[in-house]
Amino acid sequence: MANPAEEIAQLRKELETHNYQYHVLDNPLVSDAEYDRLFRRLVELEKEFPDLLTPDSPSLKVGAPPLEKFTTVQHSVPMLSLNNAMDGEELKEFEERIQRFLKHSEPIEYAVEAKIDGLAVELVYIDGKFTVGSTRGDGINGEDITLNLKTIRSIPLTLRPTDDKPPQRLEVRGEVFLGRAAFQKMNRERDEEGEPVFANPRNAAAGSLKQLDSTITAKRPLDIFCHGVGSVEGGVFASHWEFRQRIHGWGLKPVPRGKRCRGLEEVLSFRDEVEAERDNLPYEIDGLVVKVNDAELQQRLGQIARSPRWAIAYKFKPRQATTRILDIVAQVGRTGTLTPVASLEAVPIGGVIVKSASLHNMDEIGRKDIRIGDTIVVERAGDVIPYVVKVVEEKRTGEEKPFIMPERCPVCGSEVFREEGEAAYRCVGISCPAKLKESLKFFGSRTAMDIEGLGEKLIEQLVDRELVKDLADLYSLSKEQLADLERMAEKSAQNLLDALERSKSATLPRCLTALGIRHVGEATAKLLAEHFGELEKVLEATEEQLVEVREIGPEVAKSIARFFQQESNRQVIEKLRNAGLQFRVEKKKAGTLTGATFVLTGGLDAMSRPEAQKRIEALGGRVSSSVSRNTTYVVAGADPGTKLKKAQELGVKILSEEELLELLQAG
Ligand code: IVH
Repeated sequence: MANPAEEIAQLRKELETHNYQYHVLDNPLVSDAEYDRLFRRLVELEKEFPDLLTPDSPSLKVGAPPLEKFTTVQHSVPMLSLNNAMDGEELKEFEERIQRFLKHSEPIEYAVEAKIDGLAVELVYIDGKFTVGSTRGDGINGEDITLNLKTIRSIPLTLRPTDDKPPQRLEVRGEVFLGRAAFQKMNRERDEEGEPVFANPRNAAAGSLKQLDSTITAKRPLDIFCHGVGSVEGGVFASHWEFRQRIHGWGLKPVPRGKRCRGLEEVLSFRDEVEAERDNLPYEIDGLVVKVNDAELQQRLGQIARSPRWAIAYKFKPRQATTRILDIVAQVGRTGTLTPVASLEAVPIGGVIVKSASLHNMDEIGRKDIRIGDTIVVERAGDVIPYVVKVVEEKRTGEEKPFIMPERCPVCGSEVFREEGEAAYRCVGISCPAKLKESLKFFGSRTAMDIEGLGEKLIEQLVDRELVKDLADLYSLSKEQLADLERMAEKSAQNLLDALERSKSATLPRCLTALGIRHVGEATAKLLAEHFGELEKVLEATEEQLVEVREIGPEVAKSIARFFQQESNRQVIEKLRNAGLQFRVEKKKAGTLTGATFVLTGGLDAMSRPEAQKRIEALGGRVSSSVSRNTTYVVAGADPGTKLKKAQELGVKILSEEELLELLQAG
């Protein structure tokens, strides 16, 4: 496209659509790689033509230059808090209060929603444009975190234009949170990087939103569910249910778990339903919020003190218990990080016996002043490892002892050091058995070399008896050595040897995964193998060559290059090769469409676009969302857009839907 302004406008529109499809509808139309490509192109153009950068550009999703401090914003309508109901009885009292106040006794209609365990924020939209976003603060004044909120993918910078025009001024309130999986991934990465891990998703979300540097926030996969309004001008919502439906149309996300209930009975049965699902939801909830649905009734009910009379929070039982810390020990992980772990007097929490809790790092211990012998409150939050909420200070006897991080690794005796500015202590020993045990576990795991029978107990013995001092030593174990170990009969020894033998023909991506390079999981290993084709080339790749691989960024590239530059790592790889590992390269089955890039425009009759994409990819083709000189075919369906025009300008071959079908059938 010759005109940069036009191309920028087009890219923004596409990116907004993809954000909406992915984050609001959960129905992505393009691959992540394709999204990244469009994104990078937009950033590149805006850099080249800074005059064309606007405050609603989706490129702001990567963050903006850091602030010195947050400014204060006054909420035009105070952000209230909620009264709590602890049980069904208190919910009943809530209903009775309402009926008394309204002087009527018919059942009331409620909108009941999951109570999201995150951070309350307010988003101000003026004429459909996101202008200011703030934290709740003290309810009257919050902090201006607009730039941080702009990085959240599910916050549209412009509301979607629909027949239903949004109010001229719309203040939407919601809860920013981190999904469970995103939280765990983030903590795993932080742990590997030696950065302090977050105790729970809520802290992680709070920490991420309070960054003065929004590029940091941009890297945290935050999400938002919207649950209410502040001031609304030039429009009204007749009920909370209507609010939910209309904001969804504008591209905002209401709380997914919600139900309209008539009367308390229905509320209670919805509560049971949601409580039973609690552990399976992909985000943390800590209860329900029960709201009178009708806006007029809400108005009449008003508020008492700082809480509305028309809503109440029903808190689920916290999965907490009180117990004692028997001891604190330092555990050594695969990367050598020493994590203090508390062993606890066993206590059941929500059906699980809890015997230990991670204390994360010394900073966390200091902050909470945790000592050996302390009585503490532990909490199990979903499937997150139990953590210490607080020390019960009244139970202190004076006998409690502070935990001191050992100066030497408790496993190998090497020195322990703490890099300046880092919370984590690390063991420097290159062949620390604790690290080796973790590496071996990972090496044999299903996504890596898939060595059946290489379990934890066996690894313990192999390392403790010094039969295995590095990964490659696994392949020189003899049947006699194995059969000599505890719980190892001749038969199981033979089975393990067979499994080891089989693993020698593991594919290159599996072998790359198995090496346990920081940041290289299954997906990255696959990309590396596809790009370089053979181990030799991966070994020799420079950082510059590595960033050229699709989806590999500078940080990952550095980690890979550093790994292969280490002489000790190279020696292990050489040893693995000598042991017979093939680092097998699979010949890629070339499909009939290999090398061809398609762009789909307009509506298709015979299949949906995602389906067309799947079928094209199955034959080796790629689907992209914008036309360039590299496009092989543009498929023009009904009412094709500007992409058709562009294809004609660039002389790209244009296919009708029938022609596409013929191609697909021929393959
Ligand atoms: S409605 C007057 N709905 O819980 C406040 N709040 O403990 C009306 N929260 O400050 C809020 N999920 O930040 C509402 N589905 C939901 C919610 C929700 C979480 C938060 C909100 C509120 C706090 C009160």
